[in-house]
Amino acid sequence: MLRARITGTGSYLPENILTNLDLEKMVDTSDDWIMERTGIKERRIAGEKQAASDLAYEASRAALKSAGLKAKDIELIIIASVSGDMPLPATACILQDKLDAKKAAAFDVNAACSGFVYSLSVADAFIRARTYRRVLVVGAEVLSKFTDWEDRTTCVLFGDGAGAVVLEATEEDRGIVSTKLHSDGSLWELLHAPGGGSRNPASKETVKKRLHFIRMKGNETFKVAVRALESLVVETLKENRLKTSDIALLIPHQANLRIIQATADRLGLPLDKVMINLDRYGNTSAASVPIALDEAVKSGKVRNGDYILLEAFGGGLTWASALIKW
Ligand code: ACO
Repeated sequence: MLRARITGTGSYLPENILTNLDLEKMVDTSDDWIMERTGIKERRIAGEKQAASDLAYEASRAALKSAGLKAKDIELIIIASVSGDMPLPATACILQDKLDAKKAAAFDVNAACSGFVYSLSVADAFIRARTYRRVLVVGAEVLSKFTDWEDRTTCVLFGDGAGAVVLEATEEDRGIVSTKLHSDGSLWELLHAPGGGSRNPASKETVKKRLHFIRMKGNETFKVAVRALESLVVETLKENRLKTSDIALLIPHQANLRIIQATADRLGLPLDKVMINLDRYGNTSAASVPIALDEAVKSGKVRNGDYILLEAFGGGLTWASALIKW
């Protein structure tokens, strides 16, 4: 049986750091509130001229290098993002040009914070179907440019960054074992950016009303996220006939430490088996899982033969998991 194996990982974080203390000077908030409610201490902010494809390019170069491949070897590029360079074309096409990956088909996936896990699932299906053998999957976000910096309920949460993986077909008994995707579109209003699309096309009025920024009903989203992720991880293990003790590392989406803790508790997984970096980067949406995966690989937390579990939850609403045998 053919499987999709991750043969390279990479990530990129902009240099500029915005701390909770910086935010205290911008809106009515405090380091204590942000730490207690989210676990976030600081986040990275892209430069004025940096767009999602610039971050994606750096992460992709690193992932290709670690896979020992050249851009010309890649047959498909998928970027998961809700903060692409522009509405048209796909940011993946801009990345294809930057990388000079002439052979690759390229498209974007929008599943908000679950986008990377959704994209992994798409890449896995293409590889299993023998359509492509080498796929680059990237999560890249510059949410700072879609954040209302006067809204304390959202501006303390998000950060910018990108993570990438190279997937290659293998006959070996390793790679992506299974993926699970879920959506509940009836709850889309909990997390959305109303302006700039065909519903509310860009106009002076939409800008004045701040419709281009992300709006979130945080507390309601939180409750759905905890419930959905708790049952998702249990369901993923059950369907694959695995026990919690079989999981070497959980790599969750980095939105909120309390959500991560609730998921780990539901599994009975100790926190030293959970990858956590939201204290340094905040919620980087679709980039959070591949950034955390890259850090886990680089710090030696993932070894050959280990089962690792990725999970994410985001706008849509969407949630998804990927079980990987490393
Ligand atoms: N500083 C100080 N006080 C604040 C801040 C802030 N930055 N933000 C909100 N508050 C206040 C509120 O106004 C409220 O005050 P009130 O009680 O007087 O009305 C109080 O703090 C509590 O607000 P809640 O929203 O109930 O706080 P909660 O504990 O739920 O934490 C948070 C908010 C952190 C947003 C949390 O709900 C959360 O993490 N939600 C889930 C986020 C998520 O997973 N999103 C999906 C992924 S993101 C994506 O897809 C792009």
